[in-house]
Amino acid sequence: MSKLWGGRFTKETNKLVEEFTASISFDQKLAIEDIDGSLAHVHMLGACQIIPLEDVEKIKEGLNEIKVSVLKGEVEFLVEHEDIHMNVEKLLIEKIGPVGGKLHTGRSRNDQVATDMHLYLRNKTIELIQLVKEVQQAILSQAKENIETLIPGYTHLQRAQPVSFAHHLMAYFWMFERDKERLQDSLKRVNWLPLGAGALAGTTFPINRQLVAEQLGFNTVYPNSMDAVSDRDFILEFLSIGSIIMTHISRLSEEMVIWSSQEFQFIELDDSFCTGSSIMPQKKNPDVPELLRAKTGRTYGNLIGLLTVLKGLPLAYNKDMQEDKEGMFDTVETLEGSLQLLAPMIETMTVKKDVMRKALNQDFSNATDIADYLVTKGLPFRDAHEVIGKIVLYSIQHNKFLLDLSIEEYQQFSSLFEKDIFVILSPEHVVSARNSYGGTSPAQVKEQINLADDKLANS
Ligand code: ARG
Repeated sequence: MSKLWGGRFTKETNKLVEEFTASISFDQKLAIEDIDGSLAHVHMLGACQIIPLEDVEKIKEGLNEIKVSVLKGEVEFLVEHEDIHMNVEKLLIEKIGPVGGKLHTGRSRNDQVATDMHLYLRNKTIELIQLVKEVQQAILSQAKENIETLIPGYTHLQRAQPVSFAHHLMAYFWMFERDKERLQDSLKRVNWLPLGAGALAGTTFPINRQLVAEQLGFNTVYPNSMDAVSDRDFILEFLSIGSIIMTHISRLSEEMVIWSSQEFQFIELDDSFCTGSSIMPQKKNPDVPELLRAKTGRTYGNLIGLLTVLKGLPLAYNKDMQEDKEGMFDTVETLEGSLQLLAPMIETMTVKKDVMRKALNQDFSNATDIADYLVTKGLPFRDAHEVIGKIVLYSIQHNKFLLDLSIEEYQQFSSLFEKDIFVILSPEHVVSARNSYGGTSPAQVKEQINLADDKLANS
């Protein structure tokens, strides 16, 4: 079948070239957006009296029928028609005859493809915001159950100070809150309409871009036609946000892998989220968080890939830009799959409160509090730090923890110690004493959870 652009050619396209340059194998994912863009475009062509209204009606009818067939999965897209835009146009002409050829008046595939991707990313961004919210909801429910559950807090993966497990989990709630805000904010730029830019310089027809923008729900029309067809920032922005989201997912997944190990045993993942070993019958492997951690890599790759494609590209459209799609689809699908799994995995995990609490009897994570104790008795913090360092060393040498020492032993290091030190040293006290705004005390964690509830309800 002849090419839509075949007029100036004297030879058939080499088959390998046809396959190499075609994008239909992947850009068919844009079929619905492509048709919706065409419907708005042809409506405008009619409203501006660029083509007769009866032709507009025929084209709309044809496009709507194609849309139904696409949704039913009945359409076969062909490599010889190269991409989704020309496949749809060919289908339209086959269906309604040569009048279908009027659809492409005053536009180019360059503004068309950019419009399709804006529409696609808008839909996906809205869907992903919802999926992020579901993860936040799962975190919030676990947090509400674990306000008083104590766990060692770490720095350098060394025991640092005890914290509420809810507090630890809620740290991720806020990361996802910022991710959601980033996605929401990006919609401002996704909602710029490229259509009407033509190939690069605008069009000779008296089009009304504002009308198309209204039809498609865009807030802004690109004010520069060359920018409109060359801009892929909106995809780069999405890929960056996607990479940040995956980084957060990966960090949480890593914690889940560690927490569910034999060495920690702080949580147990639900059987339905784990797999076994083909040789070691005792194994229950955390494959899901491991894969979530690993899939982060491909989203970084997609970002770096597109940055590299765009770097050094002269204006305006270049075929290089066709390489923007597969990475974008891949990041969208990776995010969808990952967020969908993460929420129920968090919801169904068992929190082993006793193991977490017992761990705190076996460490020095209350040491800062004895230093603070001496400070309240008038000792400068630096001197207190030195005294406690010595007490910790003494305890290690005598195989004891801070709660095991007697008041006489404490008094050997400073006469400021009194019996109330033992109240101060309990992990419960250590945690509830950290009552500064944003701290880990139960009162602060409750306040944080209330704020989180409000955020979720109002987003
Ligand atoms: N398939 C092309 C792409 O995705 C559509 C635009 C083609 N434009 C052109 N001038 N060859 O980039």
